[in-house]
Amino acid sequence: MATLFNLDATKCVKCGLCVEDCAFGALKRGESSMPEMAKEAECMRCQHCLAVCPAGAITFDGKRPGDSIPAHGIALPSFEEASNWLRTRRSMRKFAKEDVDRDVLERILRVLGNSPTGCNARALKFTCLPTRNSLERFKRDFVNTIEKHREGSKLLPRWLAIPAIKLRKGGKDIFFRDAAGMLIVSSDTSSKGVTTPVQDVAIACTNFELLANSAGIATCWCGFLNLAQSAVPELLEDTLGIKRDMPFYAILFGKAGVRYSRGVQRDDYAQIEMLPI
Ligand SMILES: Cc1cc2nc3c(=O)[nH]c(=O)nc-3n(C[C@H](O)[C@H](O)[C@H](O)COP(=O)(O)O)c2cc1C
Repeated sequence: MATLFNLDATKCVKCGLCVEDCAFGALKRGESSMPEMAKEAECMRCQHCLAVCPAGAITFDGKRPGDSIPAHGIALPSFEEASNWLRTRRSMRKFAKEDVDRDVLERILRVLGNSPTGCNARALKFTCLPTRNSLERFKRDFVNTIEKHREGSKLLPRWLAIPAIKLRKGGKDIFFRDAAGMLIVSSDTSSKGVTTPVQDVAIACTNFELLANSAGIATCWCGFLNLAQSAVPELLEDTLGIKRDMPFYAILFGKAGVRYSRGVQRDDYAQIEMLPI
């Protein structure tokens, strides 16, 4: 039977870094000071042991060190580049007509699996509506589900009912901003070890925004979808099979339909309290 933690003893330099870096003490130094898995139940499969080993001696869950991206000598954004991104990123509310490149989208989605999750639970699901066509189809289902609900006992709030009617009639789309696509990130709270589903979803959405923007794709968070779901709890379950108790958030995306000439000025807005040394 394949084991989770595999050590190539011919490469191990007995530095102990993997044991020190193991967050829950699943690894220990065994005979001749080499690391071994002591408490597999404590292991959260974070792969830190694989990542920290300077000798490339650890294969974890079948993942070989030679297949990892190197952590040094690769292009990373400088502080200036990262802060420039944060200062100039904008919520896009006017999208170009064309769809985004499918290959670029798929590359972004694959990288998103690297988003951190509490206790490394990795119970996120990425539901992507990649084209205008797929988003339009969803919008029709969205309006139908809302209207079906209206026929039921409860009355819909005006902020939902009126824009939904506009959407059906092809009027202004304040829900989805006439975007070219949408990503919904949800967390399966029934999955083992999920402790921070809301945060996990928000972090993955932020990472999507960062990656999409750097690939020339504009984005806008879609808080309206959560508001709509709070009024019609069966909304995402009926339309996309995302269960009603799964925390989620959506990001609209597409090619930019407007070009901003400058950033806004919020550097002085952060309330920073630096405590005495
Ligand atoms: C959690 C969240 C939900 C949002 N929901 C919407 C939304 O439903 N529709 C929309 O047009 N903008 C939405 N926004 C965009 C905010 O209005 C926007 O971030 C804010 O006005 C600042 O503008 P900026 O993102 O261009 O800096 C949302 C932003 C966040 C962070």
